[in-house]
Amino acid sequence: MYDIVQDYYGRQLQNSADLKTSACCDISQVPQWLKPLLARIHPEVLSRYYGCGLVCPPLLEGCRVLDLGCGSGRDVYALAQLVGPTGLVVGVDMTDEQLAVAQQHQAWHAEAFGYDNVRFLKGYIEKLDELDLQPGSFDVIVSNCVVNLSPDKDAVLRGVQRLLKPGGEFYFSDVYADRRVPDAVRNDPVLYGECLGGALYWNDFLRIAIRQGFADPRLTEDRPLEITDPALQPRVGNLQFFSATYRLFKLDELESACEDYGQAVIYKGTIPEHASSFELDKHHFIETGRVFPVCGNTWHMLKGTRFAPHFEFIGDFSRHYGLFEGCGDAMPFDGNGGGAAAQGGACC
Ligand SMILES: C[S@@+](CC[C@H](N)C(=O)[O-])C[C@H]1O[C@@H](n2cnc3c(N)ncnc32)[C@H](O)[C@@H]1O
Repeated sequence: MYDIVQDYYGRQLQNSADLKTSACCDISQVPQWLKPLLARIHPEVLSRYYGCGLVCPPLLEGCRVLDLGCGSGRDVYALAQLVGPTGLVVGVDMTDEQLAVAQQHQAWHAEAFGYDNVRFLKGYIEKLDELDLQPGSFDVIVSNCVVNLSPDKDAVLRGVQRLLKPGGEFYFSDVYADRRVPDAVRNDPVLYGECLGGALYWNDFLRIAIRQGFADPRLTEDRPLEITDPALQPRVGNLQFFSATYRLFKLDELESACEDYGQAVIYKGTIPEHASSFELDKHHFIETGRVFPVCGNTWHMLKGTRFAPHFEFIGDFSRHYGLFEGCGDAMPFDGNGGGAAAQGGACC
């Protein structure tokens, strides 16, 4: 599979418009606050963006960030501005042509930003332990439309778990299917290169994440993907694909279900660009100043991470009240027939 993917991203695709699905996020979907940052990125880097989501979570200033499958570096250069001169962004990719574009413009961006805080490494995201990266040294790891291309997703998440600091998070966009992808689709080189053939059935992804120590994956956003190419559409049949962004926290305290300890948090409204509310995930839209009941896992995700100074915490773990109400297990994505939200919601 490595050869197929390297050929697709290194030689066949020349720019974002060559993709045959709606996987790629266009500028109209980018939040307003991010647009000035993208405007400072070199046009050649922007033209070779092949991501399917946004991987810029809040509160990155001073953070050490790793981008898995950074491609030509659009997200690296956006994140470089968010972490600022005291932070660092490392991009890893296996395709020479993609890395060449990223590295060719490194000095240009250093000049534009006033600092050089990025590093690019050639390597495989399943073999992060072979790279010169210290275990437990990253605050945030991101990835945009890459994990689906990996032939060993367990190894990717194992490597992420190893490289994150305690309380760090893997915040990543990827493509998922509503069912297990049949071999005919998986073995089709174009469908694989287009990030469809290797997509995980969403529930298998959750199983892998849990197996690799991320007990409570949180979905932050999702959208159905359209297969716009008339030649490819019949080849995928009834399969439905989604682009989705998950956040996985490295926290030993997380439980396998959302348990109720009668706790609550109050958001102080102090996270930059998020004065009136903070959205931890699709089911936790936390308005500033409001007492917001949370399960034990959500408490830990706020208390044991870089978000802690921005919240007040009410209660402790001294009494257990059972399962947190609304903890569901239906398909989590919206669109193409509805998901958990359409069926009454779920807390995680
Ligand atoms: C769909 S593109 C996304 C690139 C970039 N994240 C972006 O948003 O533009 C996939 C990228 O992942 C890289 N890639 C795929 N599988 C990889 C692997 N196993 N190890 C390292 N890089 C990989 C490819 O070389 C390609 O640059």
